[in-house]
Amino acid sequence: PLTTSKQMLLDAQKGGYAVGAFNAENMEMVQAIIAAAEELRAPVMIQTTPGTIKYAGVDLYYANVSAAAKNASVPVAIHLDHGNSYELAVQALRAGYTSIMIDGSQEVLEKNIAITKYVVSACAPCGVPVEGELGKVGGKEDDTEGSGVNYTDPEQAVRFVAETGVSSLAVGVGTAHGIYQTKPVLNVELIAELRKVLAVPMVLHGASGLTDKDIRNCVSCGICKVNFATELRIAFSDAVKEYLHQNPAVFDPKKYGAKAREAVKKQVMERMKICGCDGKV
Ligand code: 13P
Ligand code: ZN
Ligand code: NA
Repeated sequence: PLTTSKQMLLDAQKGGYAVGAFNAENMEMVQAIIAAAEELRAPVMIQTTPGTIKYAGVDLYYANVSAAAKNASVPVAIHLDHGNSYELAVQALRAGYTSIMIDGSQEVLEKNIAITKYVVSACAPCGVPVEGELGKVGGKEDDTEGSGVNYTDPEQAVRFVAETGVSSLAVGVGTAHGIYQTKPVLNVELIAELRKVLAVPMVLHGASGLTDKDIRNCVSCGICKVNFATELRIAFSDAVKEYLHQNPAVFDPKKYGAKAREAVKKQVMERMKICGCDGKV
């Protein structure tokens, strides 16, 4: 069934593991993520960015995820990833999303606090938790070109959480969206430091391209949610390309869709095990 991300992340924080949050673009990816979660007995978050929502709309993604989760025996949350406006957050909320991110990290602190607080005020009466972001994740996410990594300041983080009322916080600790052009400089000591002063679960963005060891280190220092997007797109597309290359006469989307779905499921299962969320349901 669909659940909010709140208890899921608090359980992860308590248990010292992270929930995997996977970006889905289409039905096959949604099916793959849920199948992986079921097979590993893992709680899971499925998320869509504004760019993805532009492609098919909140209603279609909500219907897809809720139908796929209907008979699932593990908790599934549907999350708005990098929400970029109050309007989109409310649209997702109304469509039935059970978890919302508002990303004001490009703004100065005061403005980030103001917009995040506003989104929390809309979501809180519906019991829907909000993820905020303070500090910057590098790389390019969606249509927004990042302006480099910005490490989260612990003092600002404490103030941000207290003033906004967010349920979780995405932090800048050296990761970047997409595949790394240069080796990331992860500051795991900063994660540990933030963990000491923050009560809410912390979120790691930009996990595609990180080594298993990097992810394990971040989780052991206090990360409770890890986001994976690019590597799933790659797994999906590589499987389609390979299949069509070997079977150029095939025109049934179910044929290559099944291969792509299998490839995404395999990738998701690997990452879930690294996050340590397997066997938690
Ligand atoms: P990657 O594309 O690097 O996996 O980042 C995912 C992410 O942070 C989605 O919000
Ligand atoms: Zn992200
Ligand atoms: Na990345």
